Parts: sequence; C-alpha cells; structure tokens
Amino acid sequence: MARYFKYKTSAELVADATELGCNLDAAENLDSLFTPVSVGNVQVGNRLCIQPMEGCDGTLAGLPDELTFRRYQRFGAGGAKLIWGEATAVSDAGRMNPRQLWIHEGSASALEQMLAGCRLSHRDACGNDGDLLLGLQLTHSGRYSFRKPLVAMHDPILDPLTLDKSNGQRLDSSYPLLSDDDLRRIEDQFVAAAKLAKKVGCDFVDLKQCHRYLLSELLASKTRPGDYGGCFENRTRFIRNIVTRIRAEVPGLMLVSRFNAYDGIPYRGEGTGEDFIGVPCRHDLPLEAAFGVHPENHLQVDLAEPIALARLLRDSGIQILNVTLGNPYANPHVVRPAEFPPVDGYHCPEHPLIGVCRQLQIATAIQQAVPDIPVVGSGYSWLQEFALHVGAANVLQHRIGFVGLGRAALSHPDFARVAQETGKLNRKQICRTFSYCTGLMRNKQHPLGQFPTGCPPFDKDIYGPIWKEANGGQGIVDAQKQD
Ligand SMILES: Cc1cc2nc3c(=O)[nH]c(=O)nc-3n(C[C@H](O)[C@H](O)[C@H](O)COP(=O)(O)O)c2cc1C
Repeated sequence: MARYFKYKTSAELVADATELGCNLDAAENLDSLFTPVSVGNVQVGNRLCIQPMEGCDGTLAGLPDELTFRRYQRFGAGGAKLIWGEATAVSDAGRMNPRQLWIHEGSASALEQMLAGCRLSHRDACGNDGDLLLGLQLTHSGRYSFRKPLVAMHDPILDPLTLDKSNGQRLDSSYPLLSDDDLRRIEDQFVAAAKLAKKVGCDFVDLKQCHRYLLSELLASKTRPGDYGGCFENRTRFIRNIVTRIRAEVPGLMLVSRFNAYDGIPYRGEGTGEDFIGVPCRHDLPLEAAFGVHPENHLQVDLAEPIALARLLRDSGIQILNVTLGNPYANPHVVRPAEFPPVDGYHCPEHPLIGVCRQLQIATAIQQAVPDIPVVGSGYSWLQEFALHVGAANVLQHRIGFVGLGRAALSHPDFARVAQETGKLNRKQICRTFSYCTGLMRNKQHPLGQFPTGCPPFDKDIYGPIWKEANGGQGIVDAQKQD
C-alpha cells in the first residue's frame, strides 16, 4: 500500500533523496543521539525531543484528563530528555478547540500533577530526571480560536478559508482585527501564564510562534497598521515584549520558542479520489502575508527574516529554538509530510521526502545562524525506521541540536529508550504516517465538541475504539497489512 516509502535500507533512502535533488545523510549508528548537550545550566541527557503533540483530550475547563495523564506518563517513561509539552492556551478565547489545555488558576494543580507524573515515570524508567527538560507550549490560537477567529491581519488567501463558526461566514476584509490594545492584553495573558507555568513545575515555556496561530500570524503581518504590523521591528514587537517581561517577572524560567521559518501559502485539493491532489490556492503577487517566503514565488524559501528572528530571540535570552514550517489547516503537506492524507485532506502534491528535506535544510540554516543555542528539527516521522539514523547524522554534523519526533512519538512513545537499548526502533510501533491522528483531531462530532487524538493503529486498545466511534463504527485498516 505504500505510495512513496519503499526503502529497505537507509542507502536506498539517501539515493532517492539525491535523485529528488535533496541532500540527506543517514548515520550507521545512533551514538550521537545519546550525547548530552548544555542548555543554560542544565546538561540535557540526550538529543531526542518529543515534539508538542496536542491530544485534544482535556476537560472543557482546560484541565488534563485521563488520556492526557496517560500520554505524559508514557512520554516520561520513553527516555527522550527534552519533552516539549503540547499547545496550552493562555486564555479560553485563545483555545483552538474546547478540549485544548488552558493554563489558569483553576487548572494549575491538575497541570502540576500531569508534569509531576511525567517526571516520576521518567525517573522510574530512566533512573534520573536531573538531565530532563520538561515544559509547556504557551499558545494563543488567533485566527484558529474555536470560539471565534481573532485575527492580527487580513490575509487575502487565508481569510476566505477561515470560518467564523458563530455565524457560518467566511472572513473578509470587513472582519475586525485585534486592536493594539487587545494585543497588549494578550501579552499580559502570556506573562500570567508563564508565572503559573513556573509554579506548576515547568522547566521551560515555549512562546509558540508557528503554524499561523496568533504569534505566527503577527510575524507575517506586513499589511497590519499600528505598532504590531508593517516593518520587522513592529512584527516582532509582541514576542520581544513578552520575552523581556517574562525574563524580568519570572526569573529562573527557561524560555524557548517554536517558530515558523517558512509559512508557504494555502493549498486546496483538486480532482477526485486518489487524484485529489493539493494545488496552491490562487494568489496575487507579490505575496504580502507570508513569513519566510519569497514575495514573488511561494515555493522559494527566503530565510533573511527568519534568521534575523532567530538571532533576535537568541540575543534576548531564548535558550532553544524549534524550527517548523507551514499551516496544518492550509498546507498540511508542508508541516507534516505524510504517506496518506487525513480524511479531509488532499494527496501530497510533492514527494514527501522533498517535504522532509525542506524541513531539514531550513532547520540546518537556522542552526548555523545561531550555533550557540540548540535548534530542534521537525518533520522526521515520515522517515519511519530511518528517522533516527538521519537525525543522528544531522547531530553528528552539527546541523541540529535535537531531533524532534511528533507523530512517531504517539505510536512509539518509548522510541528513545528502545533505540538506546537496541540500536533501532521497534518495527511494530513505527509511525507509518497514515494520518489517523490528524483525522481524529479534525473530528468535532463528539459530545464535548472534539475527539481525543492518539495513534489508532499502534495504540490500538485505547484509540482503536475511539477511531471506530468517530467513524460511525468503521474500524481501522490493520496496520501491519498496510505496512
Ligand atoms: C495530532 C497532532 C497534534 C499536534 N500538536 C501540536 C502542538 O500542540 N503544537 C505544535 O507546535 N505542533 C503540533 N503538531 C505538529 C507536530 O509537533 C510536528 O511538527 C509535525 O507532526 C511534524 O513532525 P513529525 O513528522 O515528527 O510528525 C501536532 C501534530 C499532530 C499530528
């Protein structure tokens, strides 16, 4: 059933990358992944990161629930020494779905319990948590807030794709923008959230600037008037303000940031069935609402501003950068190259290996621009059993500080421990990028307005029945048969 991933050896993978015009290496062994790295005054025990992965399984009040606790225990026991906790909203208005975690006084003690459970399971499984970094990603969903879109700028391509569920209308140029005062109030919310995050036991908070949520949209807000739009200085005002304030008001809390180094532009599917392929949405040139993109050609990456941002963040005291790309709603193939699209998605318009290599190359360029702080690379899961071999080569060559696994951590949360003990991943748990996790995330037909997500094929006992319920009784295709 595999469409693209047909490699028996890493040499075949590397050869195919070369044929596609990409540069990819795979190390013979994984040793480089198990070397420590200094971040601030912490010696982090290995180079493996569990990327932020929302489970969409909190309570309506934003507290972690049974499945959330379970996920963090499994992540903790898994052996990765950088656990980048998922998107956690700084306000109810900024939540992406009604089950997204939300940090506030009423959820603090449950979040504390969740983080403590993660640490404890790490200690139990790995013997030591002094070299573990564990934190949360603080977010405001902006345009993708589920109660109503809260937009920083009008994006001529994204606005007509953005639905205001309160009235069923798509956005147009008459839709009100967040005012500068609104943004200042949201800055206050980030500072308050960071204070609570420290209290509940976070080693770090990530100030999320990716995937076209609010802070990511601000980076691209070239057409926005006022203090937060137009020039690069204005577009980075929000992040600069909150970094300065959190450093002053929450001493001792490590700050990190996941940011989009390339937004791309929205795609839509065209054709039917297997030929429903992604094509770029119609757009005028020059592009005025995309970060890291050449204004005359959306496929051309322009890293001048992302590199300036990386240096600015490093200089202002950010201690780890996590580089990602794209928009999960508008160009999912850019964010997470996949073998199969989610139910609502289009088939990949490019070989997924090209998408993976784009992520690797851009992360390398950012790491080279800020060699003194580690960068986490994203988009490795499609590489399946070779993901860690490619990651090990990248660490060895100083192209990256940490290798981040997203979807692969849902199917194989103990990938780090297993890889350290056996030199490879467990074949029966390797993510095949079937997109079941995204499918669940997109399904809102649940009494709480959101299905929880996880890995139906490989965490079958828990997510098999959830998938069935979400799909009107239809089960998953047997994972090993799809193999
Ligand atoms: C179910 C699901 C939940 C995700 N949640 C988040 C999130 O909370 N924050 C974030 O920055 N990215 C999130 N992502 C994106 C991943 O962190 C990652 O960037 C992406 O899946 C590509 O990496 P991979 O190839 O290792 O999966 C999510 C992706 C999926 C599929």
